Amino acid sequence: MSTVELDWENLGFDYMELPYRYRAYYRDGKWQEAGLTTDANITLNEGSPVFHYGQAAFEGLKAYRCKDGSINLFRPDQNAKRLQNSCQRLLMPEVPTDMFIEGLKQVVKANEAYLPPYGTGGTLYLRPNIIGVGPNIGVHPAKEYIFTIFAMPVGNYFKGGLTPTNFLAADYDRAAHKGTGQSKVGGNYAASLLPGAQAKAAGFADCIYLDPLTHTKIEEVGSANFFGITKDNEFVTPKSPSILPSVTKYSLLYLAKHRLGMETKETDIYLDDLDHLTEAGACGTAAVITPIGGFQIGDKLHVFYSQTEVGPVTKKLYAELTGIQFGDVKAPEGWIVKV
Ligand code: PLP
Ligand code: COI
Repeated sequence: MSTVELDWENLGFDYMELPYRYRAYYRDGKWQEAGLTTDANITLNEGSPVFHYGQAAFEGLKAYRCKDGSINLFRPDQNAKRLQNSCQRLLMPEVPTDMFIEGLKQVVKANEAYLPPYGTGGTLYLRPNIIGVGPNIGVHPAKEYIFTIFAMPVGNYFKGGLTPTNFLAADYDRAAHKGTGQSKVGGNYAASLLPGAQAKAAGFADCIYLDPLTHTKIEEVGSANFFGITKDNEFVTPKSPSILPSVTKYSLLYLAKHRLGMETKETDIYLDDLDHLTEAGACGTAAVITPIGGFQIGDKLHVFYSQTEVGPVTKKLYAELTGIQFGDVKAPEGWIVKV
């Protein structure tokens, strides 16, 4: 398959309108017609609950071109499950796993010319999303829904890739203690726009949210989870009801334990105990693994490993994770689905 001409090595994380997207419609209590379309626009009734009450959930995952030319999806069943959980939280109909994975495959195949070549570091980012639509005005769930999957070639989400970057402790919360933080719903991201913009204006890559109850513990980045490596070579990551269960984070927990022989723990990570972390990073589909250099808390900058060099454990985890995703390292059973 020939590819289009793009600067594959220098892709950022920007919208690009590709030829095809998958779309499915839910009406009369069931999923109706589903398939590919070339129309990137959706026309909706003005009363659609997605516009007023934020009835919207999404996912993010990637397709990877392997050395042998085949195409990998990384743990798409986990994204399907998480979307089902988000749908339950917002009273939306669940998208069945088979339909979710079939839609991903169709979108990747149809837009294959935009899949970055092996070795460029680029991937095809896939964005499934579901919205509540149709005439409505009271605060109650929609009767109709649209599920879409669109795609675009991407490179680094945070500039610099494996070069450490600085983050700012947020004053705001993105999600309440028992709110919607565990679900990948639009409202969480709307709530993160202002603190994210303030962090970026102050020269940081993004902010790191603290636990909404006490503001004494690390929660997560606005677009990725947080992990640290302790002085005892343990992989630690926050345990909280208000953070997103990251597929990347759970994959790293597994790889740290089973491939790197480390102890691992989901636990509280207190701001006043950061000295026991020798390395820290942001992890997620878009972020992959982004080393955290400095963490600004109030007027104090806490540096984990270095502001210029990636730490050795972070580097090993990155190699193991991306090696599996691009098909160069043997994957644990069930992690890779071929397109
Ligand atoms: N946390 C938030 C708020 C996110 O938006 C993401 C991105 O999906 C993640 C964590 C990482 O999740 P995953 O590894 O499943 O991409
Ligand atoms: C992802 O990593 O897929 C995300 O959804 C993060 C995003 C908000 C860019």
